[in-house]
Amino acid sequence: MTQETIAFIGGGNMATSLVAGLIADGQDPQGLTVSDPDPTKLEGLARRFGVRTTRDNTEAARGAGLLVLCVKPQVASRVCRELSLSLGQPKPLFVSVIAGIREESIQQWLGESLPLVRAMPNTPAMIQSGAIVLHATPQTSEYQRDQAETVLRAGGLTLWVECEEQMDAVTALSGSGPAYFFLLMEILEQAGIDLGLDPEHARLLTIQTALGAARMAMEVDDSPQELRERVTSPGGTTEHALNILNSGGIRSLVTKAVSAAHERSKELSRLLARE
Ligand SMILES: NC(=O)c1ccc[n+]([C@@H]2O[C@H](COP(=O)([O-])OP(=O)(O)OC[C@H]3O[C@@H](n4cnc5c(N)ncnc54)[C@H](OP(=O)(O)O)[C@@H]3O)[C@@H](O)[C@H]2O)c1
Repeated sequence: MTQETIAFIGGGNMATSLVAGLIADGQDPQGLTVSDPDPTKLEGLARRFGVRTTRDNTEAARGAGLLVLCVKPQVASRVCRELSLSLGQPKPLFVSVIAGIREESIQQWLGESLPLVRAMPNTPAMIQSGAIVLHATPQTSEYQRDQAETVLRAGGLTLWVECEEQMDAVTALSGSGPAYFFLLMEILEQAGIDLGLDPEHARLLTIQTALGAARMAMEVDDSPQELRERVTSPGGTTEHALNILNSGGIRSLVTKAVSAAHERSKELSRLLARE
């Protein structure tokens, strides 16, 4: 656990998930401060977790060793400029989970090239099952990288990329990825219902199958391709289904979809950089 005081700027979904994960990992709640304009949200966080709260971002930032930016992209420039006016010495480590905002923009809004870790989580971080990709600016020390990773690990699995541009690919794969799987689950559930299954059973079987497949892929050494081949007996039901998916162009369709998300991520990053 990090000994530094951690301030979360923005007390919405992502901050709440990270706070929940940190506290479950044994972090002292009094070492965590959350700032947000909404007093009701703050009261809820204080009651649920025992963390310190404030409506004033600069007060939250005062004395914090680590500042986690958890606001929406649209208010990021305003919040960073506000924080830049109140930074004491030593300067804190900034961690941004804000989707689409480049490190260069954050440093520009803060007024200097401070140590900064950019993170791209995904929605399952809400239940500490996220995939969270991290990138650090050159000003960030090994110790600070470890500190940032400790905080983000509260949301799930973490891994580092060496090149910030890869964040757009990460956004297209794991950032938007939960929705791809939800769509497939929706389709499978409906197919089960159409075949006469009880709707509740169709949903449960779909979810458990997705979970079981994901756990197998994570826990055994074989690749997803090897796992698929092993459950596909020649002439069997799975082979018949996969033949339909392949002849319908599932591979090129999914590749095109992920590529479209990648292009959109780059485009949004460019637009947000102009703020
Ligand atoms: N949720 C995800 O799965 C996910 C995944 C990847 C990345 N992210 C990124 O994480 C960031 C936070 O997402 P989220 O889902 O937690 O959003 P959220 O629930 O809307 O939380 C943002 C919080 O910031 C508050 N806020 C607004 N203006 C503020 C200000 N000037 N100072 C301090 N706080 C302010 C908002 O209050 P109001 O509601 O009153 O405006 C809200 O409580 C976003 O940038 C998003 O791109 C989220």
